[in-house]
Amino acid sequence: MSFLAHPTYSDFERTNSVYADRLKAFLVSVSENKARHARFLNTLSMMEHMGSRRIMMTQSSAALCQETLKHMAEEARHAFFFKRQADRLAGVTLDYDDDDMIAPAFARMYFKRLESFIANDVKNETKPRYVAYLYMSMIIEFRAVWAFSIYQAVLNGKGLALSLKSLLAEEQGHLSGMEANLQALGVATAARLHCFLAKEQDLFERLLHRLESADVADAAAA
Ligand SMILES: [Fe+2]
Ligand SMILES: [Fe+2]
Repeated sequence: MSFLAHPTYSDFERTNSVYADRLKAFLVSVSENKARHARFLNTLSMMEHMGSRRIMMTQSSAALCQETLKHMAEEARHAFFFKRQADRLAGVTLDYDDDDMIAPAFARMYFKRLESFIANDVKNETKPRYVAYLYMSMIIEFRAVWAFSIYQAVLNGKGLALSLKSLLAEEQGHLSGMEANLQALGVATAARLHCFLAKEQDLFERLLHRLESADVADAAAA
């Protein structure tokens, strides 16, 4: 494969194989303790909510179509799904505040930095907000599908009855949907995808590091 070939999901998996064992180790550790696992689920809920909210804020124009409304609704449902699991595990209602999440400041920063990086790169396109939304969603869905697949394997291995099946199917649908829309608009370039994926990988590596150190600190304090 030449450097500028269009990256596929298997390319993403290969490039990220170095992080797979680290994420798995973090997830195994976090899922061993109910309170920490609840806080992790609540962090995922916050990130899904943030995704849904950003779609609502950036795409609310006269051209808002069924597909984008469906995407918004599905991300809001993912936020609800993780919040319900988090509260159930915690036995109380968790808030989106620092005490009830894991490394939330960096989780927010991961999202914001990636979004501003992409928005800045596509600012001269005809529909910059829409193109930024498509790219942002596509790049995040690569990570979501990858991370949720690892998480599901960990949950299965631990015998924890939590199925991410329908959520994963929806994230996979978003990934191919965004890709098809970018192709249709004629703004999809392999060079851009490589550049955005490299930026995302850098931000993810730092987020993973924060999650790992927060988990070690939490485990030591318990
Ligand atoms: Fe989602
Ligand atoms: Fe999604």
